[in-house]
Amino acid sequence: MEESRKKIVGLVENAEAAANSMRRDELLFSYKGILYPTTVCSPESFKALESFEARRDDVILAGYPKSGTNWLSQILTDLIAISQKKTPGSESSVNAEEPEEFPYLEVGDAGKYERMTKLPSPRFMVTHLRPENLPKSIFQSNAKIFLLIRNPKDVATSYYHYSNGLALLPSYETWDDFFTDFMTRKMSWGCYFEYLSEWNKYADKENIMTITYEEMKENPALSVKNIATFFGIPLTEEQLHLVLHRSSFQSMKKNSDKTHGSVGNILFRKGGVSDWKNLFTDDQSKEMDRVFEEHIAGTKLGKKLKYDLYCKA
Ligand code: A3P
Repeated sequence: MEESRKKIVGLVENAEAAANSMRRDELLFSYKGILYPTTVCSPESFKALESFEARRDDVILAGYPKSGTNWLSQILTDLIAISQKKTPGSESSVNAEEPEEFPYLEVGDAGKYERMTKLPSPRFMVTHLRPENLPKSIFQSNAKIFLLIRNPKDVATSYYHYSNGLALLPSYETWDDFFTDFMTRKMSWGCYFEYLSEWNKYADKENIMTITYEEMKENPALSVKNIATFFGIPLTEEQLHLVLHRSSFQSMKKNSDKTHGSVGNILFRKGGVSDWKNLFTDDQSKEMDRVFEEHIAGTKLGKKLKYDLYCKA
């Protein structure tokens, strides 16, 4: 394993080890009214992040936890390698593919942003943060932002299994308990409905491309082509197939021990659409329908999610 990859995998594995000796109520802390995992985020880092200087050619992926951010990261890093005339997966591209810093912007120590000033362009970063909590320079720089959204019932389902698989997030004895917390703003990185409302304010900006998990599942080839077009990267058929192959659920899961260490097994779970039907009761389903209708349905992002298709039984 490359040194930098070891460092990245080590960060999560150390956090997991630290979380094992913490009480459940110590696992999350609140910053500006939103909960975050204590073992990977800190108030000092959030403070340091405020003065982060984004560059015009930074590539930013924004997505709420469990929206498929690792999947789209794989696609974007391969497209960046192609834009640098490298072949993803080959010896020549190893350095371009191995991140120097943990790719999730808000995860890491407070010195991370100073170190990032020395990284060559284009820098790639992922974030689960709501737009108002991102450094202002990200929007001022006009850097390209890929906003990834997923239907809320599958997000909740995936988050439930993830919370019970990872030590660094509070686990739940029952799905009902998790559902209550999901609906009452007790998740790390905040409430998904508020996340969608806040990002919706940015959905019309020219430098932001919104993508849904479901459209990537339905037609991965078209999604990759659209992303490449937005990037301004011409793709040959061969390059397209390579990107699709390397980002398939099967390839990523198979490779996950190397890319994500022990967390890989928990992260690459089912990779499908509608698993929520195995967990939601009728009442829970109706409650989420009501909240979605009330806050999100009429918005641009709400329509993009095709809620009736993916979230109605
Ligand atoms: P499930 O738990 O429903 O399987 P994130 O990366 O934002 O944490 O999101 C994780 C979710 O994306 C998980 O959903 C995971 O299986 C899914 N996922 C990861 N890689 C994928 C891929 N290549 N294709 C489809 N889904 C993928």
